[in-house]
Amino acid sequence: MKDNLVISVLENELEALNQIKEKCLHCTGCNLHKTRTNIVFSGGVPNHKMMLIGEAPGFYEDQKGEPFVGKAGQLLDKILASVGFSRKEHLYICNTLKCRPPENRDPLPEEENACREYLNAQIDILKPKIILLCGRIAAHAMLGTTQGITRIRGKWFEGPNFSKMMPIYHPSYLLRNDSREKGSPKWQMWQDIQEIRKVYDQMD
Ligand code: URA
Repeated sequence: MKDNLVISVLENELEALNQIKEKCLHCTGCNLHKTRTNIVFSGGVPNHKMMLIGEAPGFYEDQKGEPFVGKAGQLLDKILASVGFSRKEHLYICNTLKCRPPENRDPLPEEENACREYLNAQIDILKPKIILLCGRIAAHAMLGTTQGITRIRGKWFEGPNFSKMMPIYHPSYLLRNDSREKGSPKWQMWQDIQEIRKVYDQMD
């Protein structure tokens, strides 16, 4: 009986996510709808434990309609796998923008504002306990700060619905900073993902 109840709550949530996705598919809230091939709504698994928020779709994501499928995505998968996480099992993935900005430029404030209702809905429906803010754009959008990512990465912040949010480096940044020496961004990412795994394992 209890199990059925849990499943039906989850079905409601999936249905709610589908409704938001359907709205997003027809969205003309900013100019990016004119140049998109596909919207990139989400990837991974819908769950209550962990969500990763990235920046915006790039070329390959726009082509496939899936988040993090290019080189940065491959590195993200490796980082997750280093502590036994996989996108099939452990996290829900989405972006601050659902449509690709031309030439992968930074999102404009009006684009972030227009898209925010979809991100807010994803968070409100799933109520993840851990939210990973992947890169400067996601961190600034969720924390309302302009502090550099190197200063805030690896720290826990209070998030919506009593969640814990941690800014982490974007894998594209790590692709440009290849050193693994102690204190380097890759080394720091390694510390951060281990801390995230520890907190994940402590949750029920
Ligand atoms: N970078 C992002 O932030 N998100 C993606 O989906 C792909 C690349």
